[in-house]
Amino acid sequence: MPGEGATVDSSDVERRLAGTRFGPVHWFAEIDSTNRWLLDRAREGAAEGVVAVADHQTAGRGRLGRTWTAPPGASLLTSILLRPDLPPARLHLVTAAVALAAADACAALAGVEPELKWPNDLLVGDRKLAGVLAEADLREGAPPAVVVGIGLNVRWPRDLPPELAEVATALNRLRSGPPPERADLLVALLEGLERRCQDLDAVAAEHRGRCATVGRRVRVDLGASAIEGVAVDVTDDGHLVVDAANGRHVVPVGDVVHSRSV
Ligand code: BTN
Repeated sequence: MPGEGATVDSSDVERRLAGTRFGPVHWFAEIDSTNRWLLDRAREGAAEGVVAVADHQTAGRGRLGRTWTAPPGASLLTSILLRPDLPPARLHLVTAAVALAAADACAALAGVEPELKWPNDLLVGDRKLAGVLAEADLREGAPPAVVVGIGLNVRWPRDLPPELAEVATALNRLRSGPPPERADLLVALLEGLERRCQDLDAVAAEHRGRCATVGRRVRVDLGASAIEGVAVDVTDDGHLVVDAANGRHVVPVGDVVHSRSV
């Protein structure tokens, strides 16, 4: 369903996704937040598989209540509605599945192999290539609805505000040729996600094995306090296990900075 003024014909994307659970694809020229829009549709009863994409977001949402900004047309900004048959403690698996599928799409289409930083950032060096935000609608007696949104930086202009220039990167800055089209990245991501949704139990081991935070010396910012130590594992609930001088910590939510490998 192409949105008015959108730069991509989403009916072509929908055709390419035939045989997966994904579609319809709503591609907006501009919206406040694809996560906000899709969570509203989920609350109205939308089926698993609906996808929202935007060329530009005016109020993109990031983790921990932050905003997510990107220049218009420069990133793949997408949200995906899933209704997994999982208890709340395991819903993080769908978020991990999206991050893994996005990393594979970058490798396949751009030759760029991002690292996964806990919980689900895609990093190249110490710069962020993509971030993932899951928001759930949990109701008694109904399967949970999870909206997983990802912002993947694809073709960023040379001039960026300093707060982005210092911490972020984009596919066009990591390869010599032109970056892949956002529609092609979306199709590759959703194909990889379809495969993982068919066996979400396997995602825990895949995520643990590919999460570059495990084995690293880290600083975990918890807002009022911080933990410094070595990240040693990710639990089945998706929490980060950190060995610090004062003992072992299991961290459900936080911001991680990677230091050197140990
Ligand atoms: C993070 O803070 O790292 C997560 C950022 C997630 C941003 C994406 S962009 C598409 C989707 N819509 C939103 O409002 N946020 C997510």
